[in-house]
Amino acid sequence: MKINCLLLFAFITLNVIAQKENIDTRVENLLNQMTLEEKVGQLNQYNDDGIATGPVTPDGDKEGQIRRGELGSMLNVIGVERVRQFQDIAMQSRLRIPLIFGQDVIHGYKTTFPIPLGEAASWDLKAMKLSARIAATEAAAGGVHWTFAPMIDIGRDPRWGRVMEGAGEDTYLGSLIAKARVEGFMGNGLGNTDAVMTCAKHFVAYGAVEGGRDYNSVDMSDRMLWETYLPPFKAAVDAGVSTFMNAFNDLNGIPATGSSYLQRDILKGKWNFEGFVVSDWGSVGQMIKHGYVKDGKEAAYAAITAGCDMDMESRSYKNNLVELVKEGRVNIALIDDAVRRILYKKFEMGLFDDPYKFCDIQREHDAFNNPEHTKASREIASKSIVLLKNENNLLPISPDVKTIAFIGPMVKEYKPNLGFWAIELPEVNYDKFIVSQWDGVQNRISKGTKLLYAKGCDIDGDNKDGFAEAVSVARQADIVIMSIGERWDMSGEAKSRSDIHIPGVQEELVKAIQATGKPIVVMINAGRPLVFNWIADNVPSILYTWWLGNEAGNAIADILFGDVNPSGKLPMTFPREVGQIPIYYNHFNTGHPAATDSTLFYTTAYIDLKTSPKFAFGHGLSYTEFEYSDIKLSKGKMKNTESTEVSFVIKNIGKYTGDEVVQLYLRDRVGSVVRPVKELKDFKKIRLNPNESKVIRFTITNDKLCFYNQKLEYKSEPGEFDVMIGSASDDIRLEGEFELIH
Ligand code: GLC
Repeated sequence: MKINCLLLFAFITLNVIAQKENIDTRVENLLNQMTLEEKVGQLNQYNDDGIATGPVTPDGDKEGQIRRGELGSMLNVIGVERVRQFQDIAMQSRLRIPLIFGQDVIHGYKTTFPIPLGEAASWDLKAMKLSARIAATEAAAGGVHWTFAPMIDIGRDPRWGRVMEGAGEDTYLGSLIAKARVEGFMGNGLGNTDAVMTCAKHFVAYGAVEGGRDYNSVDMSDRMLWETYLPPFKAAVDAGVSTFMNAFNDLNGIPATGSSYLQRDILKGKWNFEGFVVSDWGSVGQMIKHGYVKDGKEAAYAAITAGCDMDMESRSYKNNLVELVKEGRVNIALIDDAVRRILYKKFEMGLFDDPYKFCDIQREHDAFNNPEHTKASREIASKSIVLLKNENNLLPISPDVKTIAFIGPMVKEYKPNLGFWAIELPEVNYDKFIVSQWDGVQNRISKGTKLLYAKGCDIDGDNKDGFAEAVSVARQADIVIMSIGERWDMSGEAKSRSDIHIPGVQEELVKAIQATGKPIVVMINAGRPLVFNWIADNVPSILYTWWLGNEAGNAIADILFGDVNPSGKLPMTFPREVGQIPIYYNHFNTGHPAATDSTLFYTTAYIDLKTSPKFAFGHGLSYTEFEYSDIKLSKGKMKNTESTEVSFVIKNIGKYTGDEVVQLYLRDRVGSVVRPVKELKDFKKIRLNPNESKVIRFTITNDKLCFYNQKLEYKSEPGEFDVMIGSASDDIRLEGEFELIH
């Protein structure tokens, strides 16, 4: 058996090597035929004239440029027919180099999944991989070759609207999610007609923009960069990500697009990345606005020398690179390297063998009408919902309830359930395709249950005219479900908010309904952590429902009525007030730690606000209860060449089957640089039936103890470590310790 495995491994390896050599040869042969103008053409990407995800440069003659081989790629070209039109023109060019088509397939193509931050709350890597797999299958069937995903920016500031697009605040969780999403999108590898190229973005530290203001500056130590923000990108490289997208922000004074430290030293050098780097929309030309270069020509020079291979939409490369090469300022070798990287991907995708490979109408129809995709969307959506509170076990709603009032501005909405970065396909009737929250609950309630509705108010604005009707409807019910939150387009790109309270008069609506004395369940729809202290303190049951995709209504009903037991855990810390930001669980202790909310004097505490978050990273409840016991470590002392195992027992002591995300946190008590009070180092999502218990084991290896020291060496240091097993970062159930010996 072992021999067979070895032979199979050898065969596959040799096959991959042979394919690479074959493509390398084809790339060289083509490169040798290309003129300088055609080479520069491959480095340009333009948007189609339809949907734009950035400021469009009107320049009319796209088709002529394609026909002359002056364009290598396009984005936001929707549908097989449209893709075919542009590819037809590319086939009229001298060398018939196919275009490659990119699209922001961030959380689904036709089938829409929860926003990525919502999916991250599932802590279900398999589910996130499946979601990406389905998105790729549909996108590739729809003519898309390349998704600008996964977005893997660590985000610790909920004022930043793009936290909705990533995996939250934790580097360990974010790195695993990056891997899962890259593998999901790429399936069995490029060249398959259900696989798309991937794009790790935004390189790098875009999530650390000052003030949470999109596109703003970022300034941090190299140690913080290496420790917190780079690892998910290295995980994406290790997972085989096809391309990188650099970032709008400047980092320590250098725009990411013009940073050779990032793109050449780290990415293409240290990490030996062989794919290509695309700029973000216009970010090459935007270096003029940064004040980093004086004009488009210098922008092109700075970007190409820094390792940015493709210019999305700025025209800097198109207008300047030929001249820069002719005048000897840019070595043709740099151009050739960028062109090789891009051509390699086009060969790998099989586009030279068949430029219309992804333009199959029947395949598009089949992929867009697969019930398995809808089923998966519903399952992943229900796993993403986080039960923040459930006093008196008000949830799940009993089937005997006679009358339910369903109140709030989100109840009967359709498209907002998709959230930001959802794809708009012209042939889809979204009001039919999306299950609204009202539809979902209506479809699920028992025969004898009456469902009443009132909108109550809008998401924003100060109009309370609808309050009276809402209160009257609530009075007629046995229980009230409310669905409120921010508007779907209050988070996403260029959607930073200085105030992340629930907008408008929605919280006042909740107070008015609460005053009726009826039991209330509040659901909050959002693309980021919001502030809602009154609701959090006074409402018995709260669900965080993010933006759940086209199966939102069914997923919400599954949770409300207990068909699915909630299992989501927060991937980001929820602050009590904006003033607490930045706030994250894996902070340093400082010399004046505010160990509890009441230790104020001479500590890092605020004098006017509790120090703890409103809801902690990793927080999420269940309809059942889990008991943790019997922690054991296999070694009290561990050499850095060994590992130690921590085991414990978890038991379901409630009456519902449930999934629990058990979390392993470690603390390095003393280091050559200060170390966080705790760091997530492993987790498992465990399903247990009532009264069932399991022994869970985590293996602690030396690499889980490593960190970047002052010299940026990634290594562990001898000393004592705390071991914490928790249901959340602020809900540690079991503790242990061990000593690392070098
Ligand atoms: C946008 C976004 C980027 C996206 C690109 C193309 O500005 O920053 O994430 O992939 O442009 O839409």
